Amino acid sequence: MRLQVLEDYEEMSVKAASIVASQVTLKPDSNLGLATGSTPLGMYNNLIKMYKKNLINFKEVVTFNLDEYVGLPADHPQSYHYYMFDNFFDKVNIPPEKIYIPSGVGDDLKQICKKYDQSINSHGGIDLQVLGIGKNGHIGFNEPDNKLRTNTHVVKLTEETINDNSRFFDSIDDVPKKAISMGMSSIMKSKKILLLASGEQKAEAIKKAINGEITTEHPASLLQLHSDVIILVDKNAAKLLATTNT
Ligand code: F6R
Repeated sequence: MRLQVLEDYEEMSVKAASIVASQVTLKPDSNLGLATGSTPLGMYNNLIKMYKKNLINFKEVVTFNLDEYVGLPADHPQSYHYYMFDNFFDKVNIPPEKIYIPSGVGDDLKQICKKYDQSINSHGGIDLQVLGIGKNGHIGFNEPDNKLRTNTHVVKLTEETINDNSRFFDSIDDVPKKAISMGMSSIMKSKKILLLASGEQKAEAIKKAINGEITTEHPASLLQLHSDVIILVDKNAAKLLATTNT
C-alpha cells in the first residue's frame, strides 16, 4: 500500500485526478471503476477541468460504477446514475454505451448482478478502481460482516450507512435500505486501486484499513492483500496514523 497524505481536500482531489489522467493517458481504453459519494466530487471536478483544457480524452474509456441503490430509477436525483451523469458523465466525452452502472430497478436483480459481472469480465476487468471508504470501513457497499460476497450482489445497508447517507435525502425514511454492490472479487481483481478519504470522520476507518487486522469486519482492511493500492488522504483523515507517508 502506498499512502500519501495531502494538505487538504482540494490537494487530495487534484492528486486523484492526476492519477486517473495518467492512467487514461497511458492506456486510453482503460476500464475505470468509479465511486460516488462526497469524496470523489473534487476529483471529478478536476477531471472535467482537465478535459476542458484538452489535457485528457475519455473517448475510449469504459466505466463501471461500484454500486446503486435498489429501488431508485436512473432519473431519481439521489440515484447513483443521476449523480454520475450530473457530476461527471454529462461534462466529459465518455460514450454513453461505454458507461456501466448496475440498475437498482428490475424484476430480477440477481440477473442484473450476474450480467454486470459478465460485462466487467468481458471487458477484461478493471484497470483502475477508485474507492471511497465508509466510516465503518465499507468499500462499495461491502458492509462489515463475518463473511463477504465475491460477486456483484444485493446488500442490506447497515443502520450506520443509512444514517450517514441520509444527509443526501429529505428524510432518513427515504434512504433505500438495500443496494447493489460490486463484490470484493471485482474490486480486488482491479489492476490498480485508488482509495480516497478526507476528513476526521474517516480517520478511524483509515487507520484500521492500513494498520489494522485484515478482517471482513472492516472490508477496507482487505486492501492490504492487494499489490497495487494508492491511498490518498488529507491531513484530517490521517490523524490517527502513526506515520504520515509510507
Ligand atoms: C459510493 C461507495 C461508498 C462510498 C462511501 C463513502 O459509490 O461505494 O463506499 O465511497 O460510503 O462515501 P462518502 O464519500 O460520501 O463519505
